[in-house]
Amino acid sequence: MLQVAGIDVAYGHAKVLHDVSLDLEEGKMLFVVGRNGAGKTTLLRTIMGLLRPLKGSIYFDGGDITGLPPEQLYHRGIRYVTQDKKVFGSLTVRENIEIAAYSSGEPLSQALDKVLEIYPKMKDFLNLKAGQLSGGQRQILLIGQAMVGNPRLLLVDEPTQGLAAIVINEIARILKHLKGRLSAVVVEQNLPLVSQLADRVVVLKEGKVTQVLDDASEICNTSLLEKAL
Ligand SMILES: Nc1ncnc2c1ncn2[C@@H]1O[C@H](COP(=O)(O)OP(=O)(O)O)[C@@H](O)[C@H]1O
Ligand SMILES: [Mg+2]
Repeated sequence: MLQVAGIDVAYGHAKVLHDVSLDLEEGKMLFVVGRNGAGKTTLLRTIMGLLRPLKGSIYFDGGDITGLPPEQLYHRGIRYVTQDKKVFGSLTVRENIEIAAYSSGEPLSQALDKVLEIYPKMKDFLNLKAGQLSGGQRQILLIGQAMVGNPRLLLVDEPTQGLAAIVINEIARILKHLKGRLSAVVVEQNLPLVSQLADRVVVLKEGKVTQVLDDASEICNTSLLEKAL
């Protein structure tokens, strides 16, 4: 459902991704792992149309989406949850969800249901300013907002970064719940979580794909993943 085919991406003259390819099948979760600076965020930003590859193409649902603007990709069902966990802090949680409802054209009541489905406790926080949520709750709100409309492909950048173990378990539970309902590319450095959830793991090293793991017994092996980084 998503193919990245041989892309090179640069910031000015500094090339960051070199001939990167990946292939994601419908309903699967692909995890991208790699050290800081490997180019993981750059890859997600390029898929979302925020950066244009110098060469190579990106295909989604069989069509070439290379160079299409992010708004258009949003309306085709691609959602990007960025690494920075940014919500509209001075607006309430409900108002943040309203924005997703408005952007996607989904009625607010359904949008609220989408968020409460993944995290029923959010019901108690709807009138709270989103800035008052904990880091984990913000991350959950952002994932919930991404589920509004009819997402087909979710791109999530380091959802558990900086979160406490108990919250990481909650995020893992939510990702597991979403598994099979849509396709996802998740950047994640928490290897136990990767080995729990991934259908495929792509290792990115200095902007190049150095390994692709498809075999469940390999993916389960966190020390193998650790060695691949
Ligand atoms: N806006 C930018 N301008 C210039 N260089 C950047 C920019 N963003 C990232 N880089 C560089 O690109 C490389 C890959 O960054 P990034 O994709 O953020 O890596 P990762 O997400 O794997 O940590 C790094 O060397 C980083 O310094
Ligand atoms: Mg990053």
